[in-house]
Amino acid sequence: MGMQKAIIFDLDGVIVDTAKFHFLAWRKLANDLGFDFTKEQNEQLKGVSRVESLKKILNWGNMELSEEEFNRQMGLKNENYLSYVNKMDKSEILPGVPGVLDYLIEHDIPIAVGSASKNARTILKKIDLHDKFNVIVDGNDVTKAKPNPEVFLIAAEKLKTSPENCVVFEDSVAGIQAANIAEMTSIGIGEKNVLNEADHVFADFTEIDIDFIEKLLRKEGK
Ligand code: BG6
Ligand code: MG
Repeated sequence: MGMQKAIIFDLDGVIVDTAKFHFLAWRKLANDLGFDFTKEQNEQLKGVSRVESLKKILNWGNMELSEEEFNRQMGLKNENYLSYVNKMDKSEILPGVPGVLDYLIEHDIPIAVGSASKNARTILKKIDLHDKFNVIVDGNDVTKAKPNPEVFLIAAEKLKTSPENCVVFEDSVAGIQAANIAEMTSIGIGEKNVLNEADHVFADFTEIDIDFIEKLLRKEGK
């Protein structure tokens, strides 16, 4: 027998649809600075850290800010984002997710959250999932943004297993790349043509049956 298999979940876009709130808050920031960006551009912000997101947005608006103003704008964006987060409850958990989590917990499979967000713990508490995960690694624990695999490698270490025994669920291109670089099994949640680097892709968790999960768990290594 190889080492214990473990599962790492991204949070935003995998467990909850907070991408819509990030979009509203970033868009308000851009509008207040006098420009706009599209939903298509917003795709490029998924999985990307707060700092890197603001850099991309300013680039789209051809704007530069002083360090002080950059930090102030990040603070304003986060305040606005949290005003949406604060209204969340467990009804925001995406369809199919509770069934998969319950199965893994019942079978003693170690589970982690590996998120770029500094708000991950707040969100997990709002949706009543904070205590369900064995390990939470978030934007406060890492220095390198996805596609750097740091967040997932720290999760594997804390789960006390090897990277090739980890399976990652991700909705962003950057996150799938991070999982692949870490030599973990990558499972995309979203569109096949966007997440084409993933080992498997599903539109959402309602498409994932327990048979598939069991096969993943039985497989030796990646
Ligand atoms: C990621 C989101 O999970 O976290 C990004 O996909 C977000 O959109 C990033 O920018 C950082 O989140 P936060 O909550 O720390 O600003
Ligand atoms: Mg995500």
